[in-house]
Amino acid sequence: MSGTQTGRGAAPPAVELRGITKRFPGVVANHDIDIEVAAGTVHAIVGENGAGKSTLMKTLYGMHRPDEGTIAVNGARVDLNSPAAAIGHGIGMVHQHFMLADNLTVLENVVLGAEREHGIGAAARKRIRALSEQYGLGVDPDRLMEELGVGDRQRVEILKVLYRGANIVILDEPTAVLVPQEVEELFGNLRELKREGLTVIFISHKLDEVLGVADTITVIRRGTTVDTVAPADVTARELATLMVGGELPVPELSESTVTDEVMLRVEGLRVESADGRAAVDDLSLSIRRGEIVGIAGVEGNGQSELIEAIMGMRPAARGSLTLGGVDITAWETRRIREAGVGYVPEDRHRHGILLESPLWENRVLGHQTRRPSANGVWIDAAAAKADTRRIVDAYDVRTPGVDVLADALSGGNQQKLIVGREMSGEPRVLVAAHPTRGVDVGAQAAIWEHLRRARAQGLAVLLVSADLDELIGMSDSLHVILRGRLVAEADPATVTPERLGSAMTGAGLDEGTGEGTVESVEEGTGEGADQSDQPDRSDQPDRSDRPDPAAPDTPGTPDTGTQRPDDEDPA
Ligand SMILES: Nc1ncnc2c1ncn2[C@@H]1O[C@H](COP(=O)(O)OP(=O)(O)OP(=O)(O)O)[C@@H](O)[C@H]1O
Ligand SMILES: [Mg+2]
Repeated sequence: MSGTQTGRGAAPPAVELRGITKRFPGVVANHDIDIEVAAGTVHAIVGENGAGKSTLMKTLYGMHRPDEGTIAVNGARVDLNSPAAAIGHGIGMVHQHFMLADNLTVLENVVLGAEREHGIGAAARKRIRALSEQYGLGVDPDRLMEELGVGDRQRVEILKVLYRGANIVILDEPTAVLVPQEVEELFGNLRELKREGLTVIFISHKLDEVLGVADTITVIRRGTTVDTVAPADVTARELATLMVGGELPVPELSESTVTDEVMLRVEGLRVESADGRAAVDDLSLSIRRGEIVGIAGVEGNGQSELIEAIMGMRPAARGSLTLGGVDITAWETRRIREAGVGYVPEDRHRHGILLESPLWENRVLGHQTRRPSANGVWIDAAAAKADTRRIVDAYDVRTPGVDVLADALSGGNQQKLIVGREMSGEPRVLVAAHPTRGVDVGAQAAIWEHLRRARAQGLAVLLVSADLDELIGMSDSLHVILRGRLVAEADPATVTPERLGSAMTGAGLDEGTGEGTVESVEEGTGEGADQSDQPDRSDQPDRSDRPDPAAPDTPGTPDTGTQRPDDEDPA
């Protein structure tokens, strides 16, 4: 249905992609793509994992050249052979992983690599203030990056792109890590951009969000554009059908499988960051066989540290961890894994996958001492490959084979591979951070089903997720974490995402109807959320083929994203 531009006035489309084809070895990532993005609109692109969305956006951002097809910007043919060229034509891209240096200020982050625009001093500060004002971003140039929460960081990323003169802004899965309130704020920002005449291209797997914010939606399936629709004309269900030809899945548990047997017990745990502050403080919880325990919280409130302590990647400053009655507090990661603890990490590129290794070697990762990956002390490549094929089948990992590099998989498919690997070998406990992050609706349903089955067989799961529907639907019991402490317990049977979301920010734990679906555990949590303890924000499948001048390499910004200096890779 492309090419049906209702020429209001003579304004040409902001972006016109015609007949775009992009091949990778063994894969046609995009073919015969036709998209017309009207100026001053929010244009969403949806499609299942591996459909070719990120590849297309990288083409538009000059990170690689298409094999065929043409690109026009504001009516004129362009040759976008680098991100610098794309920026030259007013195209900016906000990467999903934040490329900001924590130890620098907002100002420093924004001007880095764009010193030519307004220098690095007063003029730059003035420009940032003006942009922030104009687009309602609420960005203070003099704040230290590490003091900012996730939503603020994202606004800095957007501002950074605007600072470079972008009037066409690409956002690849910007909402995956945001809680509902932050999503609302982001959408407010997008509407503001639109009001100012900017054009936004937006990729998301959350179809209700897409319907809420987009003016036009293009569906990509198996590399090509199959339809362009107006949100008023489709439901989320219909959109899901267009995307994956399937139903919209609902996260839910059937009858309880919870037993009396405690599999994992955390008692009085304290985990400290490098400067001695408590990232997790006096935290106790237990997970029984057949139970899924959910942790809700705004990112950066100690979830990462809790998980890493359980996995032996960070020391416990106080307290204890027991697995099936055995004290594992001092155990190292490998021993914990060997004792039957699966781990889906929050940041798959730092802890989950080796992008430069083939899939089957990634199957072995973290499992190198066990069958089928190992036979005695030897890695059993044939068995590992066979088992990788099993995972690829069971989890529907879209790949030409198990010998391709993990880097060649789309973001969602990398995630499916990791979840499949960690569910292998009948773990007793699964520690899962955002197991379906970036995964399409069809694959999400499959992962939930795998979790349900494993739970029925006795798996104990610690589930951390920013997707509140998932958290509520898949948890037997649910805790709220705030500033490193469990501050409330919610009843998954009755709590709503909205109430859970407000409990997570520490605002009004008992606010609302007083039904008591969220019970405050402690006093004194009334102020806003403290997001000073920011997590890693590098959960991002997309790696540039070309350096991105808007994402300069600074000491604090390794190419997989920004890590805090006190957050060294503990592995
Ligand atoms: N650098 C690469 N080398 C080889 N194949 C690649 C490369 N990048 C992407 N692909 C392949 O191109 C196809 C499209 O991938 P892409 O990342 O664009 O998907 P996507 O729609 O963004 O999916 P997701 O929702 O999972 O992020 C996939 O089959 C992927 O395996
Ligand atoms: Mg992608």
